[in-house]
Amino acid sequence: MRLKNKSALITGGTSGIGLATARLFIAEGARVAVTGRDATVFERVKAELGENALVLKGDVRSIEDMRAIAAEVKEQFGGLDVLFANAGRAFPSAVDDIDEGLYNEIMDINVKGVVFTLQAVLPDLREGASVILNTSFVAQTGQHGISLTAAAKAAVRSLARSWSYEFLDRKIRFNAIAPGAMDTPLISRWGMSDEWVRDRKAEFAKAIPVGYMGKAEDVAYAALYLASDESSYVVGTELVVDGGASQL
Ligand SMILES: NC(=O)c1ccc[n+]([C@@H]2O[C@H](COP(=O)([O-])OP(=O)(O)OC[C@H]3O[C@@H](n4cnc5c(N)ncnc54)[C@H](OP(=O)(O)O)[C@@H]3O)[C@@H](O)[C@H]2O)c1
Repeated sequence: MRLKNKSALITGGTSGIGLATARLFIAEGARVAVTGRDATVFERVKAELGENALVLKGDVRSIEDMRAIAAEVKEQFGGLDVLFANAGRAFPSAVDDIDEGLYNEIMDINVKGVVFTLQAVLPDLREGASVILNTSFVAQTGQHGISLTAAAKAAVRSLARSWSYEFLDRKIRFNAIAPGAMDTPLISRWGMSDEWVRDRKAEFAKAIPVGYMGKAEDVAYAALYLASDESSYVVGTELVVDGGASQL
């Protein structure tokens, strides 16, 4: 029970990495609030996570939504030991195809969302809390055709460093996790055919040194380490979980 008596908030916790992390945190003794926009999945998520989970509706791009979520979490949990700012979106696009709508969406979900999620819960983070920001392997190296998402995630990686300094006095630790190409529903949200998704996944797998895409649980275990007191001397870093893609 590595998170016994701890409480956590996971944004984007109704699918993929966030949901796998919620499952693991609860198994390790935590109470967990997860958020998402699509309420049609909430009953299924509640049933899966059980009585130690709160499932809350909100868009990380909305400051009002994040304040309302923070108020609900405060009322239910009293305070927070762990924040996993996980909600995010990746979308491939050549520079010529970036329009203002896509720019705003990628930057708002990935960067604005993280800034105002933290701001909303800041008063409720307990001394010694762990904050984990979800970045991406695409910001580790130059990548073709995904510059906007990579830039957004690079900004988030920078926030983990700056905030680590800013909250040293409250003993709040900030770290990032950079997932590689993980087999989650993320890529299916790009509106492409099942065949296209299957082909892309096969391409991703071929390009990864270990030869296969990661699972959401691979990132969840990294999040568990950063959330737990076992990582109490780990501050401002980024843990890369990508099957060697950016390192070998
Ligand atoms: N999968 C990968 O290969 C990969 C690689 C590197 C980094 N990552 C990062 O890992 C994180 C999780 O990705 P995933 O693969 O688990 O994706 P996923 O399965 O698509 O899950 C995304 C989660 O975020 C929520 N979400 C999306 N936009 C939101 C918004 N505006 N406000 C609130 N919640 C929102 C989704 O719920 P709703 O849609 O209902 O809101 C869902 O719960 C993201 O930050 C992503 O960039 C993933």
